[in-house]
Amino acid sequence: MIYLNKISRKLILLQRNELLSNTQKYLRKRFGRYIFTNFLIHYFQKNDLQILTEELFKQEFKTFEKYLPSNVENIMDIGCGLGVVGIFLNQKYQNNPNFYLLDKNTVDTKIKYGFSKDYESYNDLNETRNILLKNGFSKEQIYMKNVDQEITIDNKINLVISLKSMGYHYPIENYIDLIKKTCSTETVFIFDVFEQKYSLSDVKKYFNEAKIIYQENGLHSLKRLYCSGLYL
Ligand SMILES: C[S@@+](CC[C@H](N)C(=O)[O-])C[C@H]1O[C@@H](n2cnc3c(N)ncnc32)[C@H](O)[C@@H]1O
Repeated sequence: MIYLNKISRKLILLQRNELLSNTQKYLRKRFGRYIFTNFLIHYFQKNDLQILTEELFKQEFKTFEKYLPSNVENIMDIGCGLGVVGIFLNQKYQNNPNFYLLDKNTVDTKIKYGFSKDYESYNDLNETRNILLKNGFSKEQIYMKNVDQEITIDNKINLVISLKSMGYHYPIENYIDLIKKTCSTETVFIFDVFEQKYSLSDVKKYFNEAKIIYQENGLHSLKRLYCSGLYL
């Protein structure tokens, strides 16, 4: 079972609000995001949050598993959050690939949801590292990258993953320079786009191949894409 301590329980609930209990959703609505995020979030959590987190990411993993390359050495997760999807990738690839995990390193006090150029941050990079070390990673595999600092990556990335992050909460264009520097035409990309912001043809400006592999409808409709053949 995926291990989550007190801090990471709070973070996962901010990153994945589908894991909030009904009481928590009610409290967020009733008292507003500031009070909820800073005080109330620690209460009325689902008892089986760790099991539910594992189940959620198992389902996520299934949506793209068959599109993954058979061999990888370097994986980049953009907006990794607690990096939970990496646990499943690390189990699939038995060669201890390197993980370059990109995120901000602060929890904004006023959480907003939606899409914006400077989307809110809710992560703690040390916590992500701790969670991965407790879930089968070795420290040599983990390269945490704070996106508010200059990012350098020396290896060529084989797989880029970004769930509910780049393209969904903030523009792909924030990362296109980094992607061109660190990826190749062979790199496989799995990422989500916010339907109202990106059409498939917008994304095809950057990739020779782009297809929808999964979608979620509703207020924040999401399309999960498989892309390859990056135009350099
Ligand atoms: C909805 S969460 C998703 C986290 C994780 N990918 C998952 O599947 O659970 C969005 C993540 O994007 C991060 N984020 C916000 N702005 C970012 C940016 N400009 N660059 C990278 N990550 C960012 C947040 O801190 C948060 O961890």
